[in-house]
Amino acid sequence: MNKRNIVVLFGGQSSEHEISCISAVTIMKNINKDKYNIYPVGITKEGNWRIYHGKIEDLTVDSWVGNSDNAIISPDATDKSLIIFKEDGIVKVDVDIVFPALHGLYGEDGSVQGLLELAGIPYVGCGILASSVSMDKLFTKVIVDRLGIRQAKYVPVYKKEMDDIKEVVAKIERQLEYPVFVKPSNAGSSKGITKAHNRGELFDGLELAIKHDSKLLIEETIVGREVECAVLGNYHPRTSNVGEIISAAEFYDYDSKYNDIGSKTIINPDVPKITLKKIRDCAEQIFRAVDGRGLARADFFIEEESGEVVFNEINTLPGFTSISMYPMLWEDKGMSNEELVDRLIEFAFNK
Ligand SMILES: Nc1ncnc2c1ncn2[C@@H]1O[C@H](COP(=O)(O)OP(=O)(O)OP(=O)(O)O)[C@@H](O)[C@H]1O
Ligand SMILES: [Mg+2]
Repeated sequence: MNKRNIVVLFGGQSSEHEISCISAVTIMKNINKDKYNIYPVGITKEGNWRIYHGKIEDLTVDSWVGNSDNAIISPDATDKSLIIFKEDGIVKVDVDIVFPALHGLYGEDGSVQGLLELAGIPYVGCGILASSVSMDKLFTKVIVDRLGIRQAKYVPVYKKEMDDIKEVVAKIERQLEYPVFVKPSNAGSSKGITKAHNRGELFDGLELAIKHDSKLLIEETIVGREVECAVLGNYHPRTSNVGEIISAAEFYDYDSKYNDIGSKTIINPDVPKITLKKIRDCAEQIFRAVDGRGLARADFFIEEESGEVVFNEINTLPGFTSISMYPMLWEDKGMSNEELVDRLIEFAFNK
């Protein structure tokens, strides 16, 4: 069989640029080299696309740009190629498939998926709609409400309303009790999220969140355990067992997620069978409802008092580092990282 060419996109303009570089290395290490030629294409924080020439093991956030050339994926569907700009001219490489190992803004929200649709090149993971709906917390809420799956009670706030922030606060206080979570609808990785315990903190939280997005979501606080479930496949996806997050901070914010060694994840924690089944069913239903493809990780709470399952969010390009929940949940099911990456690529060819 002829080897196929795979472009792995990494980095990107989002706040999760660094995590993406680590995810991409894990993914590339696990791509079957007998089947695929790998072309690692990084996107700088400024949005410059470049092909990395070094060894995959040597790829680091700070050094990769130093060993790279400008390179772009042509949007021309008759091209289906990567155009590399070398000092002595242009080289075109046929592209069979793309693995967007990107997280957050422009990587997980349908933007890059739109480019790849235009280019007519198959790619791993969700399409434009599933990506953008899942990235936008408010839209996800609307879709999941229709499924009758429980979520935290929420109040949407639009930028225009912020002209009268006192009225916004009054509106929230009429519907929710403190503490509340204040979130930008579309930001990614906990940026701009705060927990407000009183009116003063709510004012501050609103002012901060609106810097990140023009649409906000204020939520009741769910007291309970935090668990995540991996989804893999296209129309009849498989679901994993759950992994639990034990956050070192008051909530699982950016710092506790990536910088705080006190935070822990437990694969296959003790959870009642019926609860586990409910979570897996909900994860599959939500994946279908947003029209998911390939992979996603659905996050839930198990409410302490009631034991009820409460949906939090769905991530269409979950972290793929060696300590990320998504690959660990499949390892728990007996699937190696190599096998997982291979399946993801196969699913992309067969969307
Ligand atoms: N309604 C809520 N009740 C209790 N805790 C919450 C609630 N919403 C969020 N949290 C806490 O805040 C953390 C971050 O919130 P959330 O997962 O919604 O956003 P995010 O982390 O930005 O998204 P992503 O996981 O895509 O990076 C959660 O992991 C959880 O610890
Ligand atoms: Mg989250």
